[in-house]
Amino acid sequence: MSIELRVMNLGLKLLLVDDRLEERSTLRRLIESSEINVTAIEECGAGIEAHSVAQELGPDIILVAFEEPIARSLKTIENLANLKPGLVVAYSSLSDTEYLRRAMRSGAREYLVKPLKARELAQTILDVLEGDRRRQALAETEALQGDVYTIIGPKGGIGKTTLATSLAIGLASETKQRVALVDLASQLGDVAMMMDIVPERTMADMGNLTRLLEPEIVESFLSSHSSGVKVLAASTEVNHNGFPSPGLISQIVECLTKSYDYVVIDGDQLLTPTLLAVLEMSTIIVLVTSTEITSIKNTKVFLEILRSQGFSDDKVKLVVNYPHQNHAIPPGEASKVLQYPIFWKIPFDNTCTQTTNMGQSFILARPKAKISQNILQLARSISGLHTKKASHMLNALVGRLGSRR
Ligand SMILES: Nc1ncnc2c1ncn2[C@@H]1O[C@H](COP(=O)(O)OP(=O)(O)O)[C@@H](O)[C@H]1O
Ligand SMILES: [Mg+2]
Repeated sequence: MSIELRVMNLGLKLLLVDDRLEERSTLRRLIESSEINVTAIEECGAGIEAHSVAQELGPDIILVAFEEPIARSLKTIENLANLKPGLVVAYSSLSDTEYLRRAMRSGAREYLVKPLKARELAQTILDVLEGDRRRQALAETEALQGDVYTIIGPKGGIGKTTLATSLAIGLASETKQRVALVDLASQLGDVAMMMDIVPERTMADMGNLTRLLEPEIVESFLSSHSSGVKVLAASTEVNHNGFPSPGLISQIVECLTKSYDYVVIDGDQLLTPTLLAVLEMSTIIVLVTSTEITSIKNTKVFLEILRSQGFSDDKVKLVVNYPHQNHAIPPGEASKVLQYPIFWKIPFDNTCTQTTNMGQSFILARPKAKISQNILQLARSISGLHTKKASHMLNALVGRLGSRR
């Protein structure tokens, strides 16, 4: 079924929150001209009015104007996001990323910059609803799926890809279970190169797939690494073919969790809707920082956004990596500045870059090295963090016994 048809079939209750009447009518007209099938569009102003109308209407999705004075917009978004977490979309004439960040920190799930286009709006609404549906489905079936570990960090060059690739190899080696690794870079992904893989197909080829994905279809896009890890590579070139939508990415990850015990994801350095959709599905979010001032500063922002988007602290694990010999501030200080406990520290390794450049993993090339032992220990620790694995296996066993009866 096409995206258009799916949006048309939803039959939504929509709430428009905007203090300016003419803006509301413009947006109403846009919605009516789009493929979104609404059963009701309610309108109201920001502030307390928005909160009480939302409470009464119980909308499927809320569109909120984000304009000056932004203090009012932020408060409105925060109140609405508390009422309907994950279902608030901000739209604005303010295109600066600082505004986007603040809106998202208050709980907006998406941020659309004007002029709005009917198709973009429809796709955004679809993605937000898909994320919500998936959250509910996940809550019901969590015990039956593999774990998802997503590596994120607010800066390039701090070791995200190094950690993602080595953790995946470490998990395969330590647990002897099935591990998939996904490169979420929308273009110019590094995972394939770091693992010395020349992928036949990449994520960029998946953009045109329908949403009705089967695990076998996803499997056909994976490349094999000598460690046994299966890799869904990103395009290593600048591609203009588009990238799977957040909804489709969620489906891809969901398919992988059905066939793999562990899905490791090399996330981006930007908290994009795609990344947020993946974080929703993650068992653990590994937030990497180096001890450079800029990395610490941005990690603080990340922590705030993650909290306001409803990710609990026990899901977000802070990992300090040392990609350089000299570090600006000691780890204890980092924890103090971030007011967040450090879950893991990865030591500096002076041959890491060299091994990486040769497309080798230090875990396989030098398993006894301090950094290799460190990551193997992390793999053991992270996979044994909770007893879910045992209950997962128990459930699977019960399922198999049940089907034999
Ligand atoms: N602990 C470490 N010790 C030494 N070098 C490291 C370490 N972690 C990462 N590096 C090096 O830092 C560079 C950037 O790492 P990368 O994983 O590509 O970062 P990111 O994915 O965050 O952009 C690479 O050359 C990598 O080999
Ligand atoms: Mg990277």
